[in-house]
Amino acid sequence: MNPQNSVQIVEVATRDGFQAVKPFIETETKINVIEALIKANFQRLEVGAFVSPKAIAQMADTAEIHQALAPLKASEGIRLSTLVPNAIGGKRALEAGISDLVFVLSASESHNNSNVRRSIAESLGELEQIVKVSRQIDDFHLRVNIATVFDCPYEGRTADKAVLDIIERTLDMDTPVEFGLCDTTGRGFPDHVESLCGDLLGRYQSDNRIGWAFHGHDTYGLGVANALYAYNAGIRIFDAAAAGLGGCPFAPGASGNTASEDLVFTFENMGISTGIDLDQLLNAAALIDALPGVDTGGHVRLLPRSRVSS
Ligand code: COA
Ligand code: ZN
Repeated sequence: MNPQNSVQIVEVATRDGFQAVKPFIETETKINVIEALIKANFQRLEVGAFVSPKAIAQMADTAEIHQALAPLKASEGIRLSTLVPNAIGGKRALEAGISDLVFVLSASESHNNSNVRRSIAESLGELEQIVKVSRQIDDFHLRVNIATVFDCPYEGRTADKAVLDIIERTLDMDTPVEFGLCDTTGRGFPDHVESLCGDLLGRYQSDNRIGWAFHGHDTYGLGVANALYAYNAGIRIFDAAAAGLGGCPFAPGASGNTASEDLVFTFENMGISTGIDLDQLLNAAALIDALPGVDTGGHVRLLPRSRVSS
């Protein structure tokens, strides 16, 4: 398969998805879900967050999960990342031996304040602290997730300049980074997604020091369309969640991530390789759907398997 015709899907059900579930999911159950997703061939998974347990109690066992899965990760070269909202979270994650971090901040001040109770400038300052420490760490991977890149629940459409400013400030830190362009509210529209992604990829070369990912939500049913427009603009890494789980608890009205199985089904049928075993992914999605208190989404998993599998 021509690498131009392949994409990587990063599975985020066990972070963006689980954070939206109120009843506590037992650690062992979380691990079972992660293992089911790994069986479907996901090479990268976001498996938790070092956040205040007062803000999101569901993420309190992230260190234990990483510890339990470390041998598997080492033997199969799988990347398990964790989200951190501030310097304390980054420090705790690094102390727990996790070197694949997703730092989150928002392109809009109001959402950044609601989500992490900091100004954008303060968040960038904390990112810089993490970057300084990370220079001593081998095999460190940094994703910077920029939330509300297209739309903010409080401020409406986000100005491209706000996104560019964050990217510039991050690049000034002179460290390899992958930017996650997050459509937190799912109210990004395909033309906007394509124009902004196209502009960013045109300005900044995608190489081994800078990468790009699209993180979409399907709140308005635009998740797959937005991913395809991002693909047309040159994006090749996509976040998605099995069973369409997900949603930021600090963005009113936000709901599930674009379902991984919907993306895999679409890309594969367009001749774009994902490397994912759709049948196994549907098994993992069924496990998630059976958990108490989940609000799942997506389309493909609701159809008879015979109408979906190739
Ligand atoms: N992990 C664990 N505890 C943390 C923490 C972290 N990353 N950051 C702060 N804390 C603790 C502090 O130690 C302090 O504890 P104490 O009350 O026992 O002294 C307390 O939280 C307050 O610290 P402060 O820096 O004032 O944080 P805050 O109250 O302003 O909260 C966040 C800020 C970011 C920690 C909190 O809002 C949060 O975790 N939000 C979750 C964001 C998120 O995950 N959103 C969804 C993903 S996009
Ligand atoms: Zn999200």
